[in-house]
Amino acid sequence: MDKIVIEGGNRLNGEIEISGSKNAALPILAASLLADGCCTFHNIPNLVDVYTIKKLLISLGAEIDEGDPLRINAGNIKSCLASYDLVKTMRASILVLGPLVAKMGRARVSLPGGCAIGARPVNLHLKALRALGAQIEIKDGYVEAVSKRLRGTTIFFDISTVTGTENIMMAAVLAEGTTVLENAAREPEVINLAEVLNGMGAKIRGAGSDVITIEGVSSLMPAEAAVIPDRVEAGTFMIAAALTGGNVKLLNCRSSHIESLVTKLREAGVSVEQVGGGIEVSGSGQVMSVDITTLPYPGFPTDLQAQMMVLMTGAKGISVIRETVFENRFMHVNELMRMGADILIDGNRAIVKGVERLKGAQVMATDLRASASLVLAGLVAKGTTELSRVYHLDRGYEKIEGKLSRLGANIKRVRE
Ligand code: UD1
Repeated sequence: MDKIVIEGGNRLNGEIEISGSKNAALPILAASLLADGCCTFHNIPNLVDVYTIKKLLISLGAEIDEGDPLRINAGNIKSCLASYDLVKTMRASILVLGPLVAKMGRARVSLPGGCAIGARPVNLHLKALRALGAQIEIKDGYVEAVSKRLRGTTIFFDISTVTGTENIMMAAVLAEGTTVLENAAREPEVINLAEVLNGMGAKIRGAGSDVITIEGVSSLMPAEAAVIPDRVEAGTFMIAAALTGGNVKLLNCRSSHIESLVTKLREAGVSVEQVGGGIEVSGSGQVMSVDITTLPYPGFPTDLQAQMMVLMTGAKGISVIRETVFENRFMHVNELMRMGADILIDGNRAIVKGVERLKGAQVMATDLRASASLVLAGLVAKGTTELSRVYHLDRGYEKIEGKLSRLGANIKRVRE
């Protein structure tokens, strides 16, 4: 197993290219199941989660021609089985359920288990599929869904769910009649998927708002499309620049997708400017405490909560961070406290009192974004930080240590 070793204290300076979005690439690759032929996708990131969904699609019978662009033909698949072995490593594997039922009339998809950041059920995906007319049973840990042709209807999501909205949008594109998704997720990744589906001939309106209307069509053709830049990766590097008092220009990213973070960074005293071809972030070395509440888009993303908390550990004052999206997303806190952070957990709030400086320590990654926060902590800590269980990081960050070291960080990956 690999670990990452960081000597803290270097300022980050320079330019980096943001990769394609993991959370957009996963549903877009799943959407290839709906097309009658070979799709071409640009800007697919090279990540373990993307590798997992490709492996799952190949297990269903898809043919993939690797590279950028990536070509995928899932037009002739025979299998409708997503096995536990593949689903257990990545919850987003459930994204094949909607397309399989819509295209093949049946699916057998392992239920994802709980995960480190909370129970994360898929009840809303199943409720919505049932509303579209699918017969669904849970047998031996698998969702078994059958439907001749789904029928459009109005679906109200009790909670705004990103992959739930995506799954049902992919199911509804081939349904008979019109489907209306109310309280739909508004994330940019949902818009990206809707654009790809429309490029295949789907008729989706309203993606990006909380009401999405889908007029079903009888078949979809292959499409060529590009994945949007990863706003969570961009946000992580913006926070890294602020944290180290450096100056970093991010290329290939869209500030409109991370306005909530830009606002909070500016409130904290960090300079964030839109410059030709990118976003420039400069930290003065001293940030002010700000309060954060995570919310569905366009609110502050839960996927940047842990990283922002690291920035607050060295800020002037006290910051209250409320996590409202997931029930158990403070696992980085104990590790940060081992590095000298002053944090008190009170239910879904973390009260963070800025300290002079974090100190390097041996720490352990517990989930994807928690790992990123510990890398950030290592960049500013005095001395050496060793992060183990790096596989969490590799699920969602492309070559993170290479990108950080090009910006001047003293970071390396070693075999344990
Ligand atoms: C997606 C993102 C993840 C991000 C999250 C919230 C992908 C691949 N992953 O995850 O990075 O952190 O959105 O922005 O895009 N819920 C239910 N029942 C359901 C579905 C969800 O109760 O059937 C709850 C969840 O437990 C959670 C909340 O709804 O508390 C929001 O979760 P959701 O938006 O579904 O997260 P994911 O789509 O899994």
